[in-house]
Amino acid sequence: SSAAAVAHTLLILGKPGGGKGTISSKILSDFPQFKHVSTGDELRQHVRNGTELGLQAKKFMDEGLLVPDEVMIKMVFATTQSASATGQSLLLDGFPRTLSQAQSLDNTLTINHVINLCIPNEIIVERISDRWIHPASGRVYSYSYRPPKVHGIDDETGEQLVQRDDDKPASVMRRLEKYEEATRPLVDYYRDKGVLQTFKGTMSDVIYVDVKRWLEEKLAGDDDEEDEKE
Ligand code: AP5
Repeated sequence: SSAAAVAHTLLILGKPGGGKGTISSKILSDFPQFKHVSTGDELRQHVRNGTELGLQAKKFMDEGLLVPDEVMIKMVFATTQSASATGQSLLLDGFPRTLSQAQSLDNTLTINHVINLCIPNEIIVERISDRWIHPASGRVYSYSYRPPKVHGIDDETGEQLVQRDDDKPASVMRRLEKYEEATRPLVDYYRDKGVLQTFKGTMSDVIYVDVKRWLEEKLAGDDDEEDEKE
């Protein structure tokens, strides 16, 4: 049958600097039905705009600490609620990041599939120090992996690139510690639900080939199940 496309919620998990943003942008260009929800990008936008939420979040972010759960849950809730009401597919990047965020998300949405990126810490520290961003769009460059056409300048707008405040070495170490403490337990949480797939490697371009193949299979499988229900 020609069932209407099924809404899927996809989550991408991984260490800070582990390639979540890079893999997400590849997924979005091949699977345009997904709306990208990046809590990191959203928070950085609040910080830039000087909103009350931004002022509150900035001190945690700069230190490499997590923004409190209540603040994050409130920020994301409107998006997840409207997605579940309208049947919009979501790609969640950076949320949930704690068990309590995951449990509260379970009240509004079902996570269908989880991509778990697994990359060694040494590589992460090296890459983060090499990362430059265009703050207004969230575009990410790296002098070794994806250099801008002109040094220090965004390809599309011609504006200056900057380094993130939390990409200083001490904050990076703290972000990696926080990941182990608060976010790693989510790997088991979603594995126990039978929805998690781990992708290991160091090169996003190589990992993405497997991610894409896996995702195509999963999405086709979900559509078949939906057809059977009719
Ligand atoms: P967030 O923005 O989510 O930061 P993060 O998890 O630390 O992730 P990153 O953006 O650092 O990295 P990434 O995994 O996307 O990697 P990327 O693709 O850039 O959150 C920031 C902060 O906000 C948090 O610390 C926290 O304070 C707060 N926050 C956000 N959500 C929260 C929540 N739910 N609860 C509480 N607090 C929250 O890749 C990294 C680098 O590698 C790049 O330079 C890239 O160019 C390079 N790279 C990628 N692939 C390759 C390759 N194949 N070869 C070489 N380089 C490569």
